[in-house]
Amino acid sequence: MNELAKSKFFIAPSILSADFACLGNEIQSVIAAGADWIHFDVMDNHYVPNLTLGPMVCAALKPYATVPIDVHLMVEPVDEMISRFASAGADIITFHPEATRHIDRSLSLIKEAGCQAGLVLNPATPVYILEHVLAKLDVVLIMSVNPGFGGQTFIPECLNKIRLVRQMIDRYVGEGGQTIRLEVDGGVKVDNIAQIARAGADTFVAGSAIFGKKDYAQQITAMRQQLDLS
Ligand code: DX5
Ligand code: ZN
Repeated sequence: MNELAKSKFFIAPSILSADFACLGNEIQSVIAAGADWIHFDVMDNHYVPNLTLGPMVCAALKPYATVPIDVHLMVEPVDEMISRFASAGADIITFHPEATRHIDRSLSLIKEAGCQAGLVLNPATPVYILEHVLAKLDVVLIMSVNPGFGGQTFIPECLNKIRLVRQMIDRYVGEGGQTIRLEVDGGVKVDNIAQIARAGADTFVAGSAIFGKKDYAQQITAMRQQLDLS
């Protein structure tokens, strides 16, 4: 395993599977249970066929989030939502390259707003889209399901993509580039997280695997035990 992945694994519970009637409490509970980031899924019923949370909800939840808020934009167009979520307290903002006309410009907007920036690759999106913007990336988010819904099954082919992106990042860092986290989203569970880590991921989004269970700490601890063994 490479040095970056060894140094620290992050677990980012997705509040998409939390109880929407009490999101503030849910965020406090999952942070107490050991969450490193709060993953915040933004869906617009246009880029993806579902409708979730907007910047007003992010701003309302910000006081509860004592760890970074990881905003995953599944919206089209992208740019207007960048400034709105940056103002609402987002710490990390990622978007899908298919959803914006000018990828480099959208990444610059995120950085200029003072947030960490990332691109999200759908299962069928090729990795070469990262090549010329690596210097602007803090995160690459690999979707291991098609975006739009929680509770889907991990697509095994994504492991190959994780390996490819891990090689790309390691080569880039080896040549003096900044650190880039490799995050995976969709179908991550206690029983496959070690395999995903071995492929090269260091940051793990999990929605239903954590919020679908009663004891969040037990789930996060079980994930970390698997990561320690990976
Ligand atoms: C799907 C979202 C995911 C989702 C993951 O489009 O981006 O973050 O919440 O849910 P699980 O972990 O249940 O697959
Ligand atoms: Zn997500």
